[in-house]
Amino acid sequence: MSAAGGAIAAQVVCWQNEKGRKHLPWQQTRDPYRVWLSEIMLQQTQVTTVLDYYARFLERFPAVDVLARASQDEVLAMWSGLGYYSRARNLHRCAQQVVALHGGRFPESAAVLASLPGIGRSTAGAIAAFCFGERVAILDANVRRVLTRLLGFEGDLALVAQERRLWALAEGLLPVENLHETMPRYTQGLMDLGAMVCLPSKPLCVVCPLQQQCQALAQGDTGRYPVRTRKLLRKSQSWWLLLLQDDHGNVWLQRRPSRGIWAGLYCLPVFAQRLELLEYASQLRGARLTEHPPFLHVLTHRDLHLHVVDARIPDRLDLHGEQGGWHGPQAWAGLGLPAPVRKLLAHRG
Ligand code: ADE
Ligand code: SF4
Repeated sequence: MSAAGGAIAAQVVCWQNEKGRKHLPWQQTRDPYRVWLSEIMLQQTQVTTVLDYYARFLERFPAVDVLARASQDEVLAMWSGLGYYSRARNLHRCAQQVVALHGGRFPESAAVLASLPGIGRSTAGAIAAFCFGERVAILDANVRRVLTRLLGFEGDLALVAQERRLWALAEGLLPVENLHETMPRYTQGLMDLGAMVCLPSKPLCVVCPLQQQCQALAQGDTGRYPVRTRKLLRKSQSWWLLLLQDDHGNVWLQRRPSRGIWAGLYCLPVFAQRLELLEYASQLRGARLTEHPPFLHVLTHRDLHLHVVDARIPDRLDLHGEQGGWHGPQAWAGLGLPAPVRKLLAHRG
């Protein structure tokens, strides 16, 4: 523990107290169930979007055992629109493990929390710091940016060894006193600095509490950090979706396989090729086909080009031997649907 480390923690704590976010609903509690739920939702989603979902989720699943007993379908339906559905499947599995392996109480250390589905090292650290005042670091994308700039950390974060080094440095900066008060504030303070001040392209260094100590600012090159050579490999893929509907608004939906894109969600039938879709549709007697212009849907590791073909029939057909079912507009709200499919159905012509 260096003296400078203590000073930095004290500045972050003090700044959080004066300028940070203090009125978010998950900050009004130290209940690990609520804090966990908020951290999972916030992983890839903006605060303003999470607020609604968080309230609705807690109303339906007020405690971890209620969530554990729910069906996966219902959990996915409540998650519908938040995206990154593996979070919802892990959330459900995590609740079940908390009940089965920990007597319905969340473990009180970051190390054990990190053994649960969907809880990585940083999320485990955040929960343990917020709820139990544990002296443990976090390192999500925002905090990585703040700390690499502050420290002038030039290591390539694509390398595990450098990532590990940054974790060790982050641990060296943690508060040392009065941890039940300082750890939640420090942890939230780093998140707030990353979200409000130390912005990716134009950091607001003039209002930053760390400007005196910041190496990147001293070098006049904040844009250089964080260093990461290997870019995410993005793949591109086309999907052909059959929007099969009858004149009464019923749509044919199929459950996606339990692995892969949109796992477990309800979706229009997917074809890898235009011809495959057209061949299938040619067997639907009396179907009137319309092709929509394709649109792009961006996933974490993939760009999906979605080509929708509308097939209109007068009355629902018995698609014997096919997995799937007819669902009218009243049923859609209760189904886990990928966001672009939900939008398509809402605007279907
Ligand atoms: N993002 C991740 N965790 C957060 C939190 N506790 N408050 C605001 N944004 C966050
Ligand atoms: Fe980020 Fe600027 Fe603060 Fe350094 S001084 S931590 S670059 S906002």
